[in-house]
Amino acid sequence: MMKKIVILDFGGQYAHLIATRIRHLGVYSEIRFPADAPTDLLDVAGVILSGGPSSVYAPDRPQFDKAWLDVAVPVLGLCYGHQTIAMETGGRVHRGEIHEFGAADLRHDGQSALLKGIPTPTRVWMSHGDEVDAVGEGFKVVGSTDNCRFAAVENLSAGRFGVQFHPEVTHSAHGQILLSNFLDICGCERNWDMGGQVERLSQKLREQAQGRKVFLLVSGGVDSTVAFELLNKALGADRVLGLHIDNGLMRQNESTAVMDFMKQQGFDNLRIADASELFLSRLDGVWEPERKRKIIGDTFLDVQAEETAKLGLDPEEWLLAQGTIYPDTIESGGTKNAATIKTHHNRVPAILKLIEAGKIVEPLAELYKDEVRALGEALGIPHDLVWRHPFPGPGLGVRLLCQGPQSPEATPESVQAASAVAAARGYAVFALPVRSVGVQGDGRTYAQPAALTGPCDWKTLETVATELTNRVRAFNRVVFHVAGATDFVAIEAYTTRSRLQLLRTLDAEVTSWLKREGFYETIWQMPVALLPILAGGREVVVLRPVISREAMTASFWEAPADKLAELAARLLELGAGAVLYDCTHKPPGTIEWE
Ligand code: XMP
Repeated sequence: MMKKIVILDFGGQYAHLIATRIRHLGVYSEIRFPADAPTDLLDVAGVILSGGPSSVYAPDRPQFDKAWLDVAVPVLGLCYGHQTIAMETGGRVHRGEIHEFGAADLRHDGQSALLKGIPTPTRVWMSHGDEVDAVGEGFKVVGSTDNCRFAAVENLSAGRFGVQFHPEVTHSAHGQILLSNFLDICGCERNWDMGGQVERLSQKLREQAQGRKVFLLVSGGVDSTVAFELLNKALGADRVLGLHIDNGLMRQNESTAVMDFMKQQGFDNLRIADASELFLSRLDGVWEPERKRKIIGDTFLDVQAEETAKLGLDPEEWLLAQGTIYPDTIESGGTKNAATIKTHHNRVPAILKLIEAGKIVEPLAELYKDEVRALGEALGIPHDLVWRHPFPGPGLGVRLLCQGPQSPEATPESVQAASAVAAARGYAVFALPVRSVGVQGDGRTYAQPAALTGPCDWKTLETVATELTNRVRAFNRVVFHVAGATDFVAIEAYTTRSRLQLLRTLDAEVTSWLKREGFYETIWQMPVALLPILAGGREVVVLRPVISREAMTASFWEAPADKLAELAARLLELGAGAVLYDCTHKPPGTIEWE
């Protein structure tokens, strides 16, 4: 039996980071919530309690079922998890005098199983306010830093371990060794690798399908392409039917390229439906981002139902497959129960109903993006396709920002506050008359971006962006004005063919620039958004290149200024009125503009 590690998610993005690290060490990992009782432990080899943003004393800290500390397998607590173990096993935690953020040197005597093979001292990454100041019975200190006595503790006979630092971040120099040691303590075999997963996932699909056939919407992105190849391999082409819906919101020549590629791969079980007219007519006059998403999601289902009716597919005989991946199905502890930030197209209400009825299979639902890519390579999908940037299901529909008759207008106080922050570093501020979705604190924001004019100095821009969004609530993003006019005027604008055409042209230029300059594989994604704002009488475009691992957090990419200037000049020639560059991290911005 393949054994796995369970990670309890106490919030933030830590749990996903730990999960990917464990998988890279060759062991399957799964995220669960600390409030849920420990059940189904048969194939669980160990448990890791993640870090999190709370204090163990905070009244609103995540709930925790203490039975997790009675399980028969080893348990490791990281940061908040370490403090939780200390508190629940008779130790003490106090609010630290010195908040410790960043690097520290850990010293140890080389005797601990958890720290085996790690040099002393070793650089570790700290991020905490509270601190353990007494451990429970049976625990001993195995590593300390100058400011933190209980930096690493263990109760070897009970199989309980805790460290105050974050071994999962790359800044902890030997963090991977520590996690690997924990896997050895748990007795894990290292058998999780994507090449070996093709057979296991195929077997699982055959069991789920139980002789039925499977229908899949194929957008042509990495996930749906890998899912389609896997379904064909697992069930045979005669039990799989793919449908590519041209929703009118695809990138330039995308639909043709998808169909050509599938033919080259030898598949003739993929149909195409041109439904662009239906999608665009339903989006006519709609500007709210969430309504657009819902309309697009529902229309996909309607078109699919219409196509399956045309083909006379019996719903009893057919299942619907989706290329959903792990982060889309698992909310992080930080966002669980919080306001919807945005509705993922694989989780609209109609789909949730089908999931409940057992009519959906999601063959990639356990995998992170880099694992989907590795699986794609194991399935023989060409490198360029496997490494394509992610593209959202609702397509350019989210990147073409719309606006009703009312446009937002920042208060003079907000503009003044923003100007004070920016002027101190040599920039001037414009409040852009549009709103975009962001994520700040626990929830969704829908606020204005602030545009800065001044020198293209990324480090200063990063500082201004962070200070400005932290201090002035009216703004959730900061963009840098790269080129073009600055006489920004809001317009009423919706999803139209002509706006889409302009966005497509600009987007295609950006993609070919990325490839030509060799930047394509340096970055995670580079959305291009068109705003309902004119500058110099033409619409304004925003570039949003980011560096990310799993898209849950991201930092903006610092493009070489000379190359960026060349690209911007080209975009102006192609019809943009101004070129803006998003220099907001996620959070507080999201990756997509919508
Ligand atoms: P945000 O904008 O939330 O995006 O920071 C995170 C990642 O998710 C992608 N994205 C989607 N992908 N369906 C998808 O398949 C969607 O509805 C969707 N919305 C956002 C986005 O491109 C980024 O990689």
